[in-house]
Amino acid sequence: MNTLAELRQRFSTALLDLAGDAATAAELAALVLPSQDPKFGDYQANCAMPLGKRLGKPPREVAAALVERLDLADLCEPPQIAGPGFINLTLRDDWIVARLQAALADVDRLGVQRVAAPRTFVLDYSSPNVAKPMHVGHIRSTVIGDALYRMLRFVGHKTISDNHIGDWGTQFGMIIYGWKHFGDEAAFARGPVAELSRLYRLVNTLVEYHEAKNEQLPALRLRLSDQESRAAQLELAPTPADPADKKRAAKRIQEALADLAKTRDELADAEAKVARIEADEPLRKHAAAHPNIGAAVLAETAALHAGDAENRALWQRFLPPCLAEIDETYRRLDVSFDHTLGESFYEEALPQVVRDLAARGLARESHGAQCVFLEGHDAPFLIQKQDGAFLYATTDLATIRYRMDQWRPDAILYVVDHRQSLHFTQLFATARLWGYEHVEFQHISFGTVLGDDGKPFKTRSGASVGLASLLDEAVDRAHAIVCQNDDARPEPLLSAEERRTVAERVGIGAIKYADLAHNRTSDYKFSYDKMLAMQGNTAAYMQYSYARVSSIFDKGSVDAAALRLSGAEITLTHPAERALALALLQFSEALDRVLADYRPNLLTDYLYDVASRYAAFFESCPVLRADTQQQRESRLLLCDLTARTLRLGLNLLGIAVVDRM
Ligand code: ARG
Repeated sequence: MNTLAELRQRFSTALLDLAGDAATAAELAALVLPSQDPKFGDYQANCAMPLGKRLGKPPREVAAALVERLDLADLCEPPQIAGPGFINLTLRDDWIVARLQAALADVDRLGVQRVAAPRTFVLDYSSPNVAKPMHVGHIRSTVIGDALYRMLRFVGHKTISDNHIGDWGTQFGMIIYGWKHFGDEAAFARGPVAELSRLYRLVNTLVEYHEAKNEQLPALRLRLSDQESRAAQLELAPTPADPADKKRAAKRIQEALADLAKTRDELADAEAKVARIEADEPLRKHAAAHPNIGAAVLAETAALHAGDAENRALWQRFLPPCLAEIDETYRRLDVSFDHTLGESFYEEALPQVVRDLAARGLARESHGAQCVFLEGHDAPFLIQKQDGAFLYATTDLATIRYRMDQWRPDAILYVVDHRQSLHFTQLFATARLWGYEHVEFQHISFGTVLGDDGKPFKTRSGASVGLASLLDEAVDRAHAIVCQNDDARPEPLLSAEERRTVAERVGIGAIKYADLAHNRTSDYKFSYDKMLAMQGNTAAYMQYSYARVSSIFDKGSVDAAALRLSGAEITLTHPAERALALALLQFSEALDRVLADYRPNLLTDYLYDVASRYAAFFESCPVLRADTQQQRESRLLLCDLTARTLRLGLNLLGIAVVDRM
């Protein structure tokens, strides 16, 4: 049961004849919100102010008229009008208790109702390019996408996850080129993925080397000399007399110097990259022997796409081990997909997409390429290059058509890095013109994972951090913490095997939770110490809270399931009990908030709030040693619901709990 939704419903009804029409009433009723401060009650309605403005009446008067019409007697204490016309609402304890009692009896859902009108969602997440190992950048998409999938499904929507893997792009051109020139059969037999990663890295390094040397360095040097002369000119110009002009001139100089500094940095980076390779004798030789490697890699990719027998055979041979590797990561992360239809799946559909868009007059030729020109966009959406090659965009359009034909979704969510936002804006605009007008397209974008230095998280050598090693390290560190805590007990609780299981859950949970707990649109700093801390808003703290609550039942030899069925009742006598009870009541409101804007951090916030209120309750309200049997049972019921709320909430985030740690 969602108390906030119920309150809004009641407000809607009461507002109907004051506001005039149902739509306005509903809009105003949406201004009922949980209150930020308990001294204003549990919820607060802010609708009297806008309504007063609309009616030309003092808001307090409007608030009084509204309160008179409200039918809330079973739900709230008499509403209080405060300040300019806020309506403060305090729930009746018997309302809270009745709902919690119902939640207790509802084993799987804890009283969270399914949505009245289920929708069909296709979720596109993780979607790595598979010829290279998964890296830190893939955490966010995978973990956020999986959490949204779980929550949407839990509240009753139909969910279809489709891992749009990159199995057809230039990265395969790289490993095919690498195999033909540097491949090692014996190494491939020993470990196919390691050998393919080696080839990918080698070829990528050589391509980047020539790019840096032949394109970036000359361009940067040119830019640098332009910027140097501009800065010099500005500095030489006479200082204007007018103070405002003077300020502007100073600002221009400052900006020019900042641009200059940036270009110098970029130049230094590019020069360092080139120097690093030239200092490495084998690499330098390879680079000299493969001067046109960039074009050659593109040619290998083009040959693959054109059906070249040798390249297709290599692709067939390389793809399965790459997939097996990412599957292993998914297994550890406990993430699975309903479909894995990679880019290659759409290969044959691409020409038709371009023909179709051209026939409808949406795509036009421009300098030999096919483009969709979109209103409000300077750059067109490129769907076929001069040489006939199709692009990422073409595949994504074919994918939309396939998903629409196949699953008729109401919404398609793409959980992808914010750097692709232009692509998705153009994709969605094109798809709408193409006829997919009524679908909700969402780019669930997210920020970058940063290292301690505030720059994108990289290894010391500048490579991106492999996801598998990241998980290993988190689990190793969790293992050390678990062992240390357990060894500090008078008598250790956990067997060696349990310690490993707990460490796996705590380590993986830490990485997932840290990612989910950050507002997805911001960047965040990756820190093992922070994410594994036993205090604060971390998985370890949440898992520990869960284990601690659960342990009460063992300690008191209480069977929670039997207690639930025994007819025992919750009574709220202490403010800490009530504060916890109110939070437990609001679980479904938290899920609604998450799904309104696809923000899992609103669930971690909620769970952290529950855990904190539980800690406060546990401080001041003895449970096993309560004053009376009735109070003991009531508090045990609160413990039981707390534990199950934490467990369910964490599970909806894809995080496992442990009974002891
Ligand atoms: N493979 C892409 C990348 O690694 C992400 C794909 C996202 N999904 C999509 N339908 N475009 O950048």
